[in-house]
Amino acid sequence: MRQAGGLVCGIVGVAGSIGERLGSALKKCLERLEYRGYDSAGIAVTGTGGITVRKGKGKINEVDARFNFTALDGLSGIGHTRWATHGKPSDENAHPHVDCTGEVAVVHNGIIANYRELKEQLMARGHRFISDTDTEVIAHLFEDYVKAGLPALVALRETIRRLKGSYAIALLYSHEPDKVFFARNVSPLVIGVGEGFNFLASDIPAFLNYTNRVITLHDGEYGYLTPSGIYVERNGEPVNVEDRVRVINWSPESAGKEGYPHFMLKEIHEQPRALRETWAGLDMDYVSKLGKAIAEARRVFITASGTSYHAGLILDYLLVSLAGLDAHAFNSSEYRKYIKLVKEGDILIAISQSGETIDTLMATRVFRERGAKVLAVSNVVDSTIPRESDYQLYTNAGPEIGVAATKTFTTQLMILTALAANAALHSGGMGKEAYSLVLNELEQAPDLVNTTIINVEARVRHIAGKLAVKTNAYYLSRGIGLPIAMEGALKMKEVAYVHAEAYPAGESKHGPIALVNQEFPVVFTVTDDDYLDPLEGNVMEMTARGAYTIGILPSRHYAKLGKVFTEVIQTPDASPYLLTIIQSIPLQLLAYHTAVLRGYDPDKPRNLAKTVTVE
Ligand code: AGP
Repeated sequence: MRQAGGLVCGIVGVAGSIGERLGSALKKCLERLEYRGYDSAGIAVTGTGGITVRKGKGKINEVDARFNFTALDGLSGIGHTRWATHGKPSDENAHPHVDCTGEVAVVHNGIIANYRELKEQLMARGHRFISDTDTEVIAHLFEDYVKAGLPALVALRETIRRLKGSYAIALLYSHEPDKVFFARNVSPLVIGVGEGFNFLASDIPAFLNYTNRVITLHDGEYGYLTPSGIYVERNGEPVNVEDRVRVINWSPESAGKEGYPHFMLKEIHEQPRALRETWAGLDMDYVSKLGKAIAEARRVFITASGTSYHAGLILDYLLVSLAGLDAHAFNSSEYRKYIKLVKEGDILIAISQSGETIDTLMATRVFRERGAKVLAVSNVVDSTIPRESDYQLYTNAGPEIGVAATKTFTTQLMILTALAANAALHSGGMGKEAYSLVLNELEQAPDLVNTTIINVEARVRHIAGKLAVKTNAYYLSRGIGLPIAMEGALKMKEVAYVHAEAYPAGESKHGPIALVNQEFPVVFTVTDDDYLDPLEGNVMEMTARGAYTIGILPSRHYAKLGKVFTEVIQTPDASPYLLTIIQSIPLQLLAYHTAVLRGYDPDKPRNLAKTVTVE
């Protein structure tokens, strides 16, 4: 099964009066969505005087400085922050897009797969196009239908009937200025229910300052918001969404920076809380039901991308080595390799903090079609992957705004370690006593992570000073520490732009060591007690070539290994199951401080978007 991917953009809409200018509210909402893309931004409002559009290339603040979003006001409005796929970042390609008359304005997240064909048809009918985007066809199609005399809602229904691909749409029509029309297929869209106003957005943090009552829209739904109401339809039939209202207990501050210079640092520091809340939210009876299903499965597949994949590798390691199960972890973009292996009786564990990564979603769909049961592990309740899965486990990390995953990773590790230990209990790989010890340890994670942050940050900053002038680094480990080293290298690459590669330490002799010369940085995570001697050997090999070695090790190994590294970051003692979480902290901090010292904004790494909905 193939499917068009999607723009990784953020859209927002508001109808009603919120005690401030709509332009100012929409700008604030867009800032909360900037993690979804930040190459252009725009806002449109409508009132009695028709539609006004302000948009341009650049980050929200840059575009605001040119056009003063804050001055805009009206009865309703829409906004967009873009990550380009169709059409380069430019003023013309920025959303909102308008029709020929300027009576329709639209913002869109997704890809209209058949836009070329639609554009040709519309141009043949005399429509003039200004941008290179796929989105603009939506405004012109809607224009055609209302010109033909259809009521606006019917025009919207007919418009989306013509669209192939993925979309979350918000649309203004100047003849009905108090309404924001919307439609959803594949791309995420949520409604924020207020009093005297209603919001729409790609993600909840956008409107958390105004309301915490949320309705998640489903594929195929469309309708409109007014200041006092929400109307939803599917295939011409009204849909009652009142019983879908959920109250989100994330505070607005939790979606803001709370005084930290960057979201990434704030999110690293809030890991004790995120871990505590994740542990508190874990239903151990449900974990046990899932652990049993995993232990009894014919085969266990694990799929994810990026950071979530590294969490998946830890799960894989534990299911194989601890539970003795037939488990295979793979990057979700590579799922096709396994299609012929999948059969009824298999289980797929799909890990995605956003729940929206298209590769992971595609793997989920294909595996389910072939009879596997799917367990989704996500941080976003009701997101697409969990919704399309048989079982769901949620981390409770709160919204993660920094593009680099931090607190969602360690909370994933917590849940996955508990799950693997439970599967091991059911498979006979682990006894009851050992299982209880693992759970007791995981419960200590928030406190130990807190101690780690306090103890290591100054030392890490000092080491970051050395790394800030480097262009390359190796991250080496053995056993269960390897995925953590891989995650450390990914963090360093994505925010500090230092080329960092992770290898099994034993592999380093088979090629990578050729690059090592005087002061070449090599970071070691010492996690697995079974590998201490060979790992020490690998450190010595690097030292002999003049490398600048950094050892991240629990205090119990300090006596043995403290002196073999150039620099040591000592963490609290714990078993390898918990050290994976603890050792992630200095690695995240190292990437963060290196990025800042090199003058980069770690919240907005170039070329990256938080949620990748493009295959
Ligand atoms: C993490 O720092 C990355 N930005 C990225 O690798 C991310 O983990 C990946 O895109 C997967 O996202 P997901 O967990 O939302 O599916």
